[in-house]
Amino acid sequence: MATRCIRGAITVEADDRTAVLAGTERMLREIIAQNNIKIEDISSIIFTATDDIKSVYPAVAARAIGIVDAALMCVQELYIEGSLRKCIRVMVSIESDKAQSEMNHVYLEGAKALRPDIVKKNSKLAVAIDGPAGSGKSTVAKLLAKKYSLVYVDTGAMYRAVGLYCLENNIDADSADAVAQVLEDIDIRLENSEGMQRIYLAERDVTDAIRTQKAAEYASKVAAIPAVRSALVELQRSLAEKQSVVMDGRDIGSNVLKDAQVKVYLDAAVGERAERRCHELAEKGIVADKTKIEQEIEQRDKNDKNRQCNPLTVAPDAVIIDTTEMSIEEVRDAIGKLIENKIKG
Ligand code: DC
Repeated sequence: MATRCIRGAITVEADDRTAVLAGTERMLREIIAQNNIKIEDISSIIFTATDDIKSVYPAVAARAIGIVDAALMCVQELYIEGSLRKCIRVMVSIESDKAQSEMNHVYLEGAKALRPDIVKKNSKLAVAIDGPAGSGKSTVAKLLAKKYSLVYVDTGAMYRAVGLYCLENNIDADSADAVAQVLEDIDIRLENSEGMQRIYLAERDVTDAIRTQKAAEYASKVAAIPAVRSALVELQRSLAEKQSVVMDGRDIGSNVLKDAQVKVYLDAAVGERAERRCHELAEKGIVADKTKIEQEIEQRDKNDKNRQCNPLTVAPDAVIIDTTEMSIEEVRDAIGKLIENKIKG
């Protein structure tokens, strides 16, 4: 083991206690995650803040996330004309077996401008695909995952897994308090291979069990609960930090991965979406009533678009693709072009 140093910097929007501590905490968490650090291996942290930060010592954020034994020091930076404003920097010393050259330094928000070389080296490709039920998101995401060697993350499956847990354990999915109380007991695990995702509740593989109409209904209800969303969004972001992903859902481009290089919003007429769902069911030998399916889809769209917390919405920088008249290959190729432009550019 030897002492290694990791640098980090972030800018915050306002000099108030909440913004400064939230920004500092985010930077520390990213340093810890990207370098796989155990808190007890941190020996000291020097924090600096520009002279326009006066509301709180950034080091308070370290204690708040459980860094209790490390020696901390905060100092004010020199003011140099033209330098970044409201910027917090850290130098974290850790004991590690790795070489100094293997350390990942972290530059966030406006501080990305300080080290564009590092930001580029560390950045993973993120493709965000949002849209209503049945717009073809998961089918096309799986094809893209295979073609571009991305990890496919189906966030709907996570909400379905929470829904299934509530359904099977008689938890009232309409009660935010009841669901929040059991959230800690819900252990969701994802496994990926060859562009496919399997989902587990603790050790049980629930990949197929979450696909029932009842589980979808419960998923839609639990997806409106802020505590559920913040737990799952944290998991989704941590997956995208570690690897290049194609992630589908309702709030990926607008909330989960706001920095995704490619954002797509897939849409299709409700009749066409119901038709596709009936077709899927028919392939499994299930005869479905199209009018009923259409009503169920409309109800879910309504829930997803009208909930208070992270509703289904088009991110301002998303490309909208109406898939009503398109084959799945055409949709794959249209998104493929956007990905290739980003990879080249
Ligand atoms: O895409 P799906 O049908 O598997 O999603 C299940 C439910 O989860 C659906 O009602 C919408 C919700 N959901 C969400 O609110 N946010 C996401 N990122 C993904 C799904």
